[in-house]
Parts: sequence; C-alpha cells; structure tokens
Amino acid sequence: MLAVYAAEPHPDAPLDGLQVGERPEPAVPDGWARVRVRAASLNRHDLWTLRGVGIKPEQFPMILGCDGAGITDDGRNVVLYPIIGTPGFSGDETTDPGRTLLTERYQGTFAEYVTVPTRNLLPLPDSMSFEAAATLGTTYLTAYRMLATRSGLPAGSTILVQGASGGVSTALIQLGRALGMRVWATSRSEEGRDRATGLGAHQAFEQGARLPERVDGVFESVGRATWAHSMRAVRPGGVIVCCGATSGADPSADLQRLFFLQISVIGSTMGTLDELRRLIAFCDAAGVQPVVDRTFPLAQGREALELLEHGTPGKLVLTA
Ligand SMILES: NC(=O)c1ccc[n+]([C@@H]2O[C@H](COP(=O)([O-])OP(=O)(O)OC[C@H]3O[C@@H](n4cnc5c(N)ncnc54)[C@H](OP(=O)(O)O)[C@@H]3O)[C@@H](O)[C@H]2O)c1
Repeated sequence: MLAVYAAEPHPDAPLDGLQVGERPEPAVPDGWARVRVRAASLNRHDLWTLRGVGIKPEQFPMILGCDGAGITDDGRNVVLYPIIGTPGFSGDETTDPGRTLLTERYQGTFAEYVTVPTRNLLPLPDSMSFEAAATLGTTYLTAYRMLATRSGLPAGSTILVQGASGGVSTALIQLGRALGMRVWATSRSEEGRDRATGLGAHQAFEQGARLPERVDGVFESVGRATWAHSMRAVRPGGVIVCCGATSGADPSADLQRLFFLQISVIGSTMGTLDELRRLIAFCDAAGVQPVVDRTFPLAQGREALELLEHGTPGKLVLTA
C-alpha cells in the first residue's frame, strides 16, 4: 500500500529520512480492526518522529500520522483515538505510563490502511467530513482537554491564546468561543491576527502587547517566546494551561510572580477516549467544524511535510 513514512531518523534534517512509497499492509491482531484511511492530519509530532525523538531506532521504518478518520472493513465511518494503552490499564489514558501514540510503536495513518484496537474507534457523525474529523484525535482533543478539563474555567471567562496561527491555537480559539468564553489571541503577524478574529476570537493582539485587562486563563503552546507575556497577562488567582513549547522549553518561571499572584500553571497532554467522545458530541451539537487550511493527496505527503516544517498557519490534511 502507498504510505508516507520515516525510513530512518535524521535528527538535524528530518525530511532527509522521509519516503513516499510502498509499505506492507499492517497485520490485524485479535481485538484490533483495520481502517481504510480517508484523511489524516499533520502534527509537529511527525517532525519529531522523523528526527528520531520519542521513537526507538529499531522501530524504523515507521509510517507517519498520529490521527485520522476512515472506514472500517465492516463499513462504519470512524474517528481514530491515537493513544494505545497498556492492556488492562483503566483510568485516564494520558497517565498510563505504558501508553504509546500511533507512530511511536505502531504504524501511523499516512497510508491506505491502519490498524488500531477496536476500542480506539469512535463513530464519525454525519455532520463532519473525513478531512475535518482527521484533526480531532490530536490537535482538537488537546485543545478540548486544556479548555474543558484542565483549566477549570467556566463559560464567560476571558482567555488568551498565544500564537494564534498554530494548529492547537486554531482549535483553542474555535472551541473556546463555542464553549462561551471571551477569546483573545496573540500572533506575530497581522495575517495571523486577522485569521484569529476570522476564527471567532473577540480581539487579537501583537505578540507581547499590553492587554486591556488581565485574563482568567492563558493557553500556551509557544513556550519561551511568549511565556513572560503569559505570566504578565494572567490575573491574580488565574491559570496558565500549557501543552507545548514550539519556540523552546526553558522559560523563566518568574517564581515571585507565581506565588505572589497565586497563579496556577497546569500541564496538559492529549486527552482521554472519553474526552474525544465528548468533543465529537460537542462539535456535532454546537455546529463546530474543525478548520482545515489545506489538503494534499497522500502521494504529495512530502510537499505537505515541507510546509509543516517551514511553518504554515492552521491544519494540513492528507487524503487517501
Ligand atoms: N502535549 C500535547 O499533547 C500536544 C499536542 C499537540 C501539540 N503539542 C505541541 O504544541 C505546540 C504547538 O503545536 P501546533 O501543532 O499548534 O504547532 P504550530 O502549528 O507549528 O504552531 C506554532 C505557532 O506558535 C506561534 N509562535 C509564536 N512565536 C513563535 C516562535 N518564536 N517560533 C515559532 N512559533 C511561534 C506561531 O503562531 P503566530 O505566527 O500566530 O505567532 C506558530 O504558528 C508544539 O510544540 C507541539 O509539539 C502538544
């Protein structure tokens, strides 16, 4: 079958290890199901895999793609949950020490077929296209958990989303607005700020700008470039929820501000199967359609990954 895969790790030039070509169809163990992939989204994690981060050398070659949507052999339209847990583990999957994300141990979704445990399949609602649904399992699930579970913020809260053009930020703006929050966003570019208000942000600001007032919660995935601003932007007793650090992971903690203003800093990663189920139901009920900025056929996987590496707004999706 046709697949987009990492042949071997290349820490400094990730795309040097990228191949688009034939790979064997994955086996279907007991309790697993085969899915004909219709769409799969690109994530920064795919670049980490190409660099050899979070994957053992013996796991190569590895088909890329952490999430997706498709059709099972018995004809059901499904959304994939990307975390494969330790057999027998119960509870919050994101805290399972033995958990693995698709592409870390098991072959990913940038292919004609993928196999996953049957529990990792959720029904795709009629209201959503395969392309839009392909973004749910990683980006939108991460944003949903940050907003709906980890932040503890009720509807009506004012939130700041840093780095509006990013995939996670796109989802945070859309979902935050749909969850009834007053959404502010920052972006380095005027294009990014226009995009943010087009997605539903009430106001958009330059990176680091002084805000009209402090916010109840800041949503961080940028890291070093925005952290100091996040610490200044949050109100006393407010919360910063962080899921990533694209610009670097060594921000100054600003501990004096942290304790004196009683700021809570909360980490968040991916989400549970139940949160994905609730996210799908929420999008269906609230009429939220995840935004896909560009789609590419599987055979053009290299062009899509080049765009991701060089930085492009929003979500890119491969279709098969
Ligand atoms: N923990 C998890 O489960 C999880 C899940 C998904 C993603 N992540 C992580 O979250 C981060 C964001 O992911 P993403 O897919 O949204 O990435 P992305 O699409 O590449 O977004 C990064 C955004 O950060 C903003 N930015 C601001 N200052 C920057 C700087 N100095 N350098 C680079 N970017 C800067 C940019 O927006 P503007 O141009 O608008 O400023 C850019 O579009 C990544 O680090 C990713 O690994 C974590």
